[in-house]
Amino acid sequence: MRFELALLAPGDWAEFRDLRLRALADAPAAFSSKLADERRLGEAEWRARLAVRTQFVARVAGTAIGTVGAYCSDGGISLISMWVDPMFRCRGVGAALVDRVIAHARDLGYPRLRLLVTEGNIEAERLYTRCGFEPTGVSKPRPDADAVRREVELARML
Ligand SMILES: CC(C)(COP(=O)(O)OP(=O)(O)OC[C@H]1O[C@@H](n2cnc3c(N)ncnc32)[C@H](O)[C@@H]1OP(=O)(O)O)[C@@H](O)C(=O)NCCC(=O)NCCS
Repeated sequence: MRFELALLAPGDWAEFRDLRLRALADAPAAFSSKLADERRLGEAEWRARLAVRTQFVARVAGTAIGTVGAYCSDGGISLISMWVDPMFRCRGVGAALVDRVIAHARDLGYPRLRLLVTEGNIEAERLYTRCGFEPTGVSKPRPDADAVRREVELARML
């Protein structure tokens, strides 16, 4: 399968919104954000999100099938908002998206890339392990009130 990766600009806010809502509908347990909350966001909020993060999209024949973001905070950089359409999984899209964020973080000069994964998200944990991430020992309750599971921090050197 041929897919291409591209960087989303604030003008691509509608494509980003659609991807994010698909992700939250498909895999609610993987994310602390809630579909009902994000459905209420308007154009300005989606544009603002794209202005403060770097968000990549994977497309097949022009149609978005996956996404991942990078967010800089507290002097570090995190991989966030990772999702691949179930119809296109297990074909290397997830690994290509992770590699894209690794390259981006290196380009910015960061020595380390971190992420949070919900405990028990086996597919994501396997992907991140294969891409060189290891547990840092840090874990915390998910920020959403109804969460039972914890988020575990993984990181890799760049
Ligand atoms: C986690 C997730 C992003 C993985 O995406 P993906 O595109 O399936 O990832 P990959 O294709 O790179 O890897 C998945 C598996 O397919 C295998 N694979 C990759 N290319 C392949 C190919 N051409 N043929 C056969 N298998 C292949 C990989 O080896 C991997 O196997 P493993 O899990 O046994 O190690 C996806 O499952 C997802 O979106 N989950 C829901 C959202 C989520 O959990 N996000 C993470 C939040 S932290």
